[in-house]
Amino acid sequence: MTNSTRVSIIALDGPAASGKSTLGRKLADTLGYLFFDTGIMYRAITLIGLELDMNLQDEASITRLAQDTQIEIRPPSRDDGRAFDIMVGSKDITWDVRRGDVDANVSVVSAYAGVRKALSDQQRRIGLRGKVVMVGRDIGTVVLPEADLKIYLDASADERARRRYDELMARNEPANYDEILKKVIERDHIDSTRAVAPLRAADDAILIDSDKMDVEQVFNKVIALCK
Ligand code: DC
Repeated sequence: MTNSTRVSIIALDGPAASGKSTLGRKLADTLGYLFFDTGIMYRAITLIGLELDMNLQDEASITRLAQDTQIEIRPPSRDDGRAFDIMVGSKDITWDVRRGDVDANVSVVSAYAGVRKALSDQQRRIGLRGKVVMVGRDIGTVVLPEADLKIYLDASADERARRRYDELMARNEPANYDEILKKVIERDHIDSTRAVAPLRAADDAILIDSDKMDVEQVFNKVIALCK
């Protein structure tokens, strides 16, 4: 740790729907730090590729797209539940990055080495400024291995699928538990077996299993580790 009383760079990794974003947002609010959800950048490139009708299997073109696209994260301009605005040029893609077709394709795009290099270089530059809670899959292992505190937040596939299902129901969106579970397992497999920066806990990460803990309990545990 760079500071004996307070950590500055917090890396928060773990599989899809393990509760990283909720925890990260709460930690950042409490500490007055920047909350940076890196999955958004992979989602933004996937969305733009889909909108431009590009072939997402074409690694070279998608890599060029990632290198040429400036993704901006700004304070929220609207009070519609967003934590921040995600902009590409003048286009607001804050909600579009959550679309089902983006969910279905983002693992392919995020497995490309060139895409990862382009995006993780940007993430690292932002993270090194400090006072940041950075959420992703490879923050503690690749993007910011020097982070002061590394948390690996895990939960069973069943529990994560149930949480996603509840979220969709709460937003009145169509949801089928079995399909969600299947997708969670598929994404885990792609994310953890890809050749570049696979999902795994850093050797010095603190592992937290949130299956039997609610948000508040996990938060209290992590905030105690920050102090
Ligand atoms: O956390 P999320 O569901 O928004 O992530 C979307 C995708 O991006 C997911 O397939 C994993 C990938 N991702 C990644 O490979 N590395 C990161 N640092 C963040 C996300």
